[in-house]
Amino acid sequence: MCGIVGVVGNEAAAPILLDGLSKLEYRGYDSAGIAVRNNNDEFTIVKAKGRLKDLQEKTNDGLAVPGTCGIGHTRWATHGEPSEINAHPHSTDDKNVVGVHNGIIENYQELREKLIKKGYSFYSQTDTEVVVKLVDYYYKKYNIGPIDAIAKTMVRVRGSYALVLMFKDFPGEIWVARKDSPMIIGTENGASYVASDVPAILKYTRNVYYIGNHEMGRLTKDGATFYNLDGEEIKKDLVEIKWDAEAAEKEGYEHFMIKEIHEQPRVVRETLNTHVKDGKIDFSEIGLTEEVINSVTGIYMVACGSAYHAGVVMQYVMESLARVPVRCELASEFRYRNPILDPNELIVIISQSGETADSLAALREAKTQGIKTLAIVNVVGSSIAREADYVLYTLAGPEIAVATTKAYSAQLIAGYLLSIEFGKLRGHLDDAKYTELIKELETIPDKITKILEDKERIQWFSNKLANSTDIFFIGRGIDYAICMEGSLKLKEISYIHSEAYAAGELKHGTISLIEKGIQVISVLTQTDLFEKTISNMVECKSRGAYSMGLTSYGNYSVEDSADFTVYIPKINPLFAASLAVVPLQLLSYYVSIERGLDVDKPRNLAKSVTVE
Ligand code: AGP
Repeated sequence: MCGIVGVVGNEAAAPILLDGLSKLEYRGYDSAGIAVRNNNDEFTIVKAKGRLKDLQEKTNDGLAVPGTCGIGHTRWATHGEPSEINAHPHSTDDKNVVGVHNGIIENYQELREKLIKKGYSFYSQTDTEVVVKLVDYYYKKYNIGPIDAIAKTMVRVRGSYALVLMFKDFPGEIWVARKDSPMIIGTENGASYVASDVPAILKYTRNVYYIGNHEMGRLTKDGATFYNLDGEEIKKDLVEIKWDAEAAEKEGYEHFMIKEIHEQPRVVRETLNTHVKDGKIDFSEIGLTEEVINSVTGIYMVACGSAYHAGVVMQYVMESLARVPVRCELASEFRYRNPILDPNELIVIISQSGETADSLAALREAKTQGIKTLAIVNVVGSSIAREADYVLYTLAGPEIAVATTKAYSAQLIAGYLLSIEFGKLRGHLDDAKYTELIKELETIPDKITKILEDKERIQWFSNKLANSTDIFFIGRGIDYAICMEGSLKLKEISYIHSEAYAAGELKHGTISLIEKGIQVISVLTQTDLFEKTISNMVECKSRGAYSMGLTSYGNYSVEDSADFTVYIPKINPLFAASLAVVPLQLLSYYVSIERGLDVDKPRNLAKSVTVE
């Protein structure tokens, strides 16, 4: 996600834009830019790679950019690496249209080709430049003003957008359009504002309009007018914002972690939509050809922490669907054990930040042995992304909470897609199965939403765990991998010791720790292993454990062995981690709250471990 801002009024626009962008840096911070109309109505566009401070220095805190009407953007790259050329605002060569955008235009490639045939050229790798020039194309073709040009563009593009535009022929006006990406409009004292999020304009106004999907707006210093897709004016109520600035950054959520947990349906949908086109997986942007995929004799999934746990899930899914031998290793182990690697193996490095020192070192170790490397990362242009041979981006947007949630979920989706594509190309999945699996993936966002609707039950149960000292998570197969992530979440934000244990391994020693009062959380989403794990649950309960079961709707027999049961919607067991992890994320979150801890910034931890 990115941060957008705009203002038209009587004051100098640039300082207001920079101030607004500073409140939106949590939404993206790899490059930034502003465009302001000077007093001769000419556009001054200034962009900078890096943090917002670089742009502030370049514009002398906005003083070097005169004018009272302008737009700004702070970027979280999704299409095109972080660079000045890819930074927003983007404009047509003749500056007829200048714009910024937050969202993803899924069909930007086809639109780019269409516009090239119409005589347009492109200087950046971004989808935003395409959508700005598409507006220009319709504006010139139909010549009946911004509303029509924007409406035609909204009909033509597929994806999500919060679009903020200025037209050379319309000085003193800012035009906006929205679908799915957040946008608010504010007005106060002879000025109008637009932003991705309340914090950017809270200093100037608490009176905002919420623009709906497929709606447009025209902002002037006298106020805002809204239109529907047919160009008809629509009335909107002004809403008074009661949040304080910090609460607003979290969009009303108490912590970034709970906000990011709730972003997972959208993140999963966007990651799927970016890599699945018309029901087919499209990895063409990654460069992984059929030849490369068929040449792979084995895969290493290498990562740290939650990314490693995502790799363990991928190991089961990839081996099941593609019948490729997969080994998942901790990067901090892999890099020092002098691994014996086969030239036809593929090393997959999974990393949210793309900067984790151990994972980067593992990547470099693989490259010194001439092994092909694929990075699954969230931060575009990060070190791991830049050094890997192939890159599969997750589209979780900036993740602020130290405990990862939405990025982990996006990594799972990437792993499922990779496994399905490998399975198809290596002849293990026929067309029917391929289509069935992709359709199953597309049910995940709504199923996560359903789980989130039931969060109060989990919050109630969390009170039972808040004073625990030892908690065990047990499961088999993918359920064991889910336990790993559930245990880490609990440990890192509630500071309660917990262990993820292969349920079948308990009797080989650890069951000696089970006694009255010990909590055991059993994960049972794998149909073929269900009865086995039930037996392990009974073993623990008969030794005094307090037992929670986490399973799919319909498996009501679990309640015979559990003191508390949480259900998730049914799904292909291969994809169950995407659902089962959500109650465990919520459980950890609520236990941490119950214990009065700093959920977003747990002690001793950093968001990205860039040191060994
Ligand atoms: C996850 O909740 C942790 N904060 C941590 O384990 C993290 O997953 C690990 O440090 C790897 O980070 P990366 O994905 O940025 O490489």
